[in-house]
This record gives sequence, C-alpha cells and structure tokens, in this order.
Amino acid sequence: MHPTLPAIAYICTMIHKQTLIEATMAGAAIMKEYFDKQFTISSKSALNDLVTEVDHKSEEAIFDIIKKRFPEHYILSEESGPIVQESSYKWIIDPIDGTINYANGIPICCVSIGLERNGKMEMGAVYNPFLNEFFFAQRGFGATLNEKKIHVSDKDELTKSCLVTGFPYTYLDAPNGPLQVFEKLIRKGIPVRRLGSAAIDLCWVAAGRFDGFYEHKLQAWDSAAGYLIVEEAGGKVTSLNGDYYDHYQPGIIATNGRIHTALQYAINGGEVA
Ligand code: IPD
Ligand code: CA
Ligand code: CA
Repeated sequence: MHPTLPAIAYICTMIHKQTLIEATMAGAAIMKEYFDKQFTISSKSALNDLVTEVDHKSEEAIFDIIKKRFPEHYILSEESGPIVQESSYKWIIDPIDGTINYANGIPICCVSIGLERNGKMEMGAVYNPFLNEFFFAQRGFGATLNEKKIHVSDKDELTKSCLVTGFPYTYLDAPNGPLQVFEKLIRKGIPVRRLGSAAIDLCWVAAGRFDGFYEHKLQAWDSAAGYLIVEEAGGKVTSLNGDYYDHYQPGIIATNGRIHTALQYAINGGEVA
C-alpha cells in the first residue's frame, strides 16, 4: 500500500520541523561554545556594524544540517547572502541576531531561522541558548516557548504599554524616523526598551512580555521567524503604514493587536493617545 498525499505532506512537514530545530540548536551550540573565548570581530557597513568569527561558524553549522538534508532548497543567510536555487522552499537564516551583544558578552542574542514555502513563511524558530528559550511557530498551529503555548498580552492602552525597538545605522533623523518616534513615546512616559536583537524583541511580544515592537529598517533574516511567532501567538504584524507585512521591506510594527492602531498612528506622525 502506498502512503496517501496528506500522509506524505505530514511527513515532509515533520522533517522540515526537525531540520529547523536541529539547525537552530547547532548554531546556538556554537554561540555557547565561544561565548567566553577569544574570537575575531570585524566591521561591515559601519564601524559598529559587527560580524564575529562566531557568526560565520554558527552559519556553517546551520548550513551543514540544512544542506545535507535539502541540497536543492534556496538559502538566504546574513553572512553568505543568497544561495539561489529553483525551489519552493527558502531558509532565511540569521546565525547570530544580536551580534553586538554577543561581541560584548551580553547574553541577549539568538539564532533565528524561518522557512518560507512559495513566498509564505511556514515555520520559524528562535533560540537564545543563554536563557535556554526556544521559540517556535508553524503557520496555523500556534506559537510555543519551550514547547508551552504562548500568547500576546491583552493590554489595550498605548500609554500603559511596555514597548521595544531598535535603531538603524542610517536615517535616524528622518521625519517620523527612529529618533522622533522614540522621543515622542518616551516624552509620554512610555517605557521603550532596546534589547539589541530584533528576533528576541519579536518573540518577547509573542510571549506577552512586551505589548509592541517597531523598527524602521530590518532585513528579512532579522524578522522572518519572529514575525510568524508573533502572528501565531495571536498578535498583529504590519509594515510601518499598516499594510500587509512583507519581510523583504524594511519597516515593521508587531503588537498584541489591541494597541496596534494607536502605535501605528504615533509612528506616522500622530499624537500618542
Ligand atoms: C541587528 C539586531 C538589532 C536590530 C538591527 C539588526 P544583527 O541584527 O536585530 O536589534 O536593531 O537592525 O541588524 O546585526 O545583530 O544580526
Ligand atoms: Ca539580525
Ligand atoms: Ca546577524
């Protein structure tokens, strides 16, 4: 007897999930191994846009697992760029999200991997090995932290919310740019944290620790896994102007849903209310 199509699809999904978990863990094991050792650090686009030897080693460990199992899949990874292949599957990898934290011995950093199928994010995993926090989501199946279901917060007033953001190296001073928005929010007494890892920011919104996150300039690998985790935890994710979120464009607002409109309004020049 031959297996049915749904049975084959289920088995494929399980293999993808297993590979995603193993790859994320492999990168994170490298991060842990080198954390208190000496490693080289160099600059990329700006003096403090850093890459360490460990980013590359983590990427290699992740590639080893994914490429062995799926040599025909497309891979987009921060330090190697795209490995273009004719495939409906694309792995989007940040081998260390929070490199500046990592390079300074600050244990707020992680591996983040998303798996896209036909242009749609299907699964995502984010693991911070220093807090032993493994976040995972599969489209339509909810989000988990260490295998326990998580949900966004239920705060419904922006002025009572706890937010998180990050700052890019460029267009800091643009109208309604990162500094203006930040100033507007903190002048209203709203706590706006800056952890230094967009993937962790997103997961902490998913877990209800933050009520909202916004950032003006991210790359696909920063948000691919995390935005699905927020959506699957019941949150809302859009571009800065409230459109459907496409992880290949730079701006993001990710919230518990309840404060979304108010935060979006404030980010686009409106008053904080
Ligand atoms: C950075 C972090 C940071 C965000 C930057 C990203 P990296 O990623 O996610 O929180 O503000 O925009 O580039 O360089 O540490 O992988
Ligand atoms: Ca990143
Ligand atoms: Ca990175």
